[in-house]
Amino acid sequence: MSKPEILLAGAYPEWDMVELEGRYVVHKLYEASDRTAFLNEVGSNIRAIATRGELGASLELMQSLPKLEVVSVYGVGTDAVNLDHARERGIRVTNTPDVLTDDVADIALGLLLATARLMPQADVFVRSGQWGKAVMPLVTRVTGKRLGIVGMGRIGQAIASRAAAFNCDIRYFSRNPQPQVSYDHERDLVALAEWSEFLVVIVPGGEATRNIIDADVLEALGPDGILVNVSRGSTVDEEALIAALQKRSIKAAGLDVFYNEPKIDPRFLELDNVVLQPHHGSGTVETRKAMGQLVRDNLAAHFSGDTLPTPVV
Ligand code: 8YV
Repeated sequence: MSKPEILLAGAYPEWDMVELEGRYVVHKLYEASDRTAFLNEVGSNIRAIATRGELGASLELMQSLPKLEVVSVYGVGTDAVNLDHARERGIRVTNTPDVLTDDVADIALGLLLATARLMPQADVFVRSGQWGKAVMPLVTRVTGKRLGIVGMGRIGQAIASRAAAFNCDIRYFSRNPQPQVSYDHERDLVALAEWSEFLVVIVPGGEATRNIIDADVLEALGPDGILVNVSRGSTVDEEALIAALQKRSIKAAGLDVFYNEPKIDPRFLELDNVVLQPHHGSGTVETRKAMGQLVRDNLAAHFSGDTLPTPVV
C-alpha cells in the first residue's frame, strides 16, 4: 500500500523525522521558498498536517488541502488551528496534553526565580569580573509570597503545587471555579493582580483570552509586582506590558511567549527588567520525545481507523 502523504508545517527533531518518513511521504512546508507554489504542487494529495502549537493550521492552509483528514498538533494549544473550519469539514484535530504539563510548570517557576532573584544579571556580574569590585544588588524573595495564577487547568495546577512548596499564598482567576482545587478563586482579574506580588499567566490562547492582561491589570500588579507569561503572547497586551516595564510601573517580567515569535518586539531586548525565553517551556528532550510520540500515535490511529488517543475535534 502506498504511504499516506502528510504536510509538516514546521521542523521536528530528527528522531521524529526518521519515524515519520518511515511511514509517510512527508512534505516540508517550512522549507518551501514559495508556499503557494509548493501547496499547488503537492496539496491535492495531502491527508494530514503535522504542526506545532504556535504554527497551528490556518483557514487558508486547510482550504488549500482538499483531502485533509486530520491535523496533529505537537503541543497542547490549538488556538492557531481553525477549529471551526475543521468541524465544518469533519477534519479531526489532536494535540499533546499532559506530557508537557510538568515542564511548562517548571519553566514558570524557573522564570519567576530567575526574574525575582536576578539570576541572568548575577551570571553576567560573575562572568564580567565585577564580583569583588562592585556590589551585586539585593534581590526579591520568592518563598512565601502572594502568587496569582491566571488559568487553573492542568498546567495551572502544576504551577500551584510547585508554588505551594515555596509556601506561596495562592489565588487564581479562571472563568469558572475549579472544584478540585483548594486555592481561592478570584472572579475579578484586576482584584487578583492587586492582591498578587507575582502573577503567572497560563490560560489557553485565542480570542476569548486576547489581551486579558491589559494596562489595568498591570497597573494593579504595581511597581513591586512580577509578571510571568508561559501561555501565549496573545494573552498579554504587549504595548501595555512594554510601557509598564519601561516606566517600571511593574517591577519585572519573565516571558516565554510573545506576539510575534520568533521576531519579537526589539524593545524587549533593551529592557534590563525582563528574562526572555524562546518559547521553550516544553523544550526538554524527555517531553519533546513524548510529544513526538503522541503526534505519531494520533496519526497512526487515524490512518488505521482506531480511536484517537488525544482528540480535540
Ligand atoms: C511547544 C506549545 O513549544 O504546547 C503548546 O501549545 O506551544 C509548546 O508546547 C510548541 O508546540 C513546539 O513548537
